[in-house]
Amino acid sequence: MLTEMLEEGRRCTDEALERLLPASSERPPSIHEAMRHSVFAGGKRIRPILCRETGRAILGNVPAGIDDLGAALEMLHTYSLIHDDLPALDNDDLRRGRPTCHKVFGEAIAILAGDALQTEAYLVLSRLKCPPSARVAIIEEIAQSTGTINGMIGGQVVDLEAEHSRAEAETLEYIHRSKTAALITASVVSGGIYAGGGEEEIRTLIGFGQAIGLAFQIIDDILDVTRSSEQLGKTAGKDVASEKLTYPALFGLEESRKKTALLLESASQAVEDFGPRAEVLKTLARFLIERES
Ligand code: IPE
Ligand code: IPE
Ligand code: MG
Ligand code: MG
Ligand code: MG
Repeated sequence: MLTEMLEEGRRCTDEALERLLPASSERPPSIHEAMRHSVFAGGKRIRPILCRETGRAILGNVPAGIDDLGAALEMLHTYSLIHDDLPALDNDDLRRGRPTCHKVFGEAIAILAGDALQTEAYLVLSRLKCPPSARVAIIEEIAQSTGTINGMIGGQVVDLEAEHSRAEAETLEYIHRSKTAALITASVVSGGIYAGGGEEEIRTLIGFGQAIGLAFQIIDDILDVTRSSEQLGKTAGKDVASEKLTYPALFGLEESRKKTALLLESASQAVEDFGPRAEVLKTLARFLIERES
């Protein structure tokens, strides 16, 4: 059931992305090729899948048009990866099993491809097929989660500033909650809003998203230490080499794994009130924590 759900989610997300992204032949082709190079390099599509499965849990079936929302989330996530890999940030050569965007297209086009994916995402969000009040709430939620206040950019800034620094647990949690958990939470929450979820349901989804989002980044840190570049499709061992502030660096592997197990438990508890509808979300949460890449 999980394999089919993931497969269907990936396929529908890719179809939406294919339809929504400008063709490579559109002028100027270099930027559209660069955007597509990074988007269609085989990401796991976790955020869109979380979004559509949350929509399904709230509504009872996959809400029509929700894959456009998922595609916008994936565009924002891919923009963050392109910029994360730039020489001025993590300086990575490999992403999703391919040379990074700046390696293929040069730094200028890679920066602009990230910018363009962000702009394109909001264009798609502005056209979502849901009531205008839901559309505005989704745009607000996603903009907030990727911004500087407890959002993705804020987290990326502190991640960079914390390199080579004396480790502090509070800072580490801030980084992970902001750079990664915020957008994952927004994926779940926006799916809930799109499906017409009520206030109580949205509060539940925030708790669930925050727990799995933090666990997701802790696992990313663990995989960086325990897996090969080939298995990950990105350069392994990068965090130690850059003296990043990570969970394994601060707490060790065992303690980090324990933390993810506790977070999985609290994520499952958060959605308990959903009854049988929570099963799919719990299954996804477990998959994210047990993943090997
Ligand atoms: C990688 O995200 C960057 C993080 C926020 C940890 P993913 O692990 O979701 O990467 P893709 O999309 O599958 O390539
Ligand atoms: C990246 O965290 C988070 C964002 C891109 C917002 P990492 O720097 O750990 O991600 P990877 O390991 O390069 O995918
Ligand atoms: Mg980084
Ligand atoms: Mg990185
Ligand atoms: Mg990482």
